[in-house]
Amino acid sequence: MNNRRDFLKASLVVSAGLAATGLMPGSARAATIPEGIIYTKENPGRWAGKEGSHSPVITVEGNKLTVETKHEMTEHHYIVKHTVISGDGQVLDENTFYPTDEKAISTFEIEGTHSMLYVTSFCDIHDLWLAEVKL
Ligand SMILES: [Fe+2]
Repeated sequence: MNNRRDFLKASLVVSAGLAATGLMPGSARAATIPEGIIYTKENPGRWAGKEGSHSPVITVEGNKLTVETKHEMTEHHYIVKHTVISGDGQVLDENTFYPTDEKAISTFEIEGTHSMLYVTSFCDIHDLWLAEVKL
């Protein structure tokens, strides 16, 4: 992110993408998503500098999707959940963590044919992070 304008422009692209896929209910609503709700590696917003430990890292092997958030897992600061969402907004799978889990790694078996998937990772302190993978 070079400046606030780039961040806003990228946020609009993400919002438009979410609206187009139906990830967010209602395109009019998605078009008005304010900053500070969804963060990405490219647009970390107020969490700039935390991309490496919050943006989900996705590996695909056939229909197996591995998601890792390279984040600490402690009682007061941990990754709460990973979710996989299809390009048309269907929640395909999810995995909830506990602070006692050693690592925030999920493995999902994805059914059906998809050209792209969205993956979210939620930190109890640093909010919701989104990544996408083209298949
Ligand atoms: Fe965090």
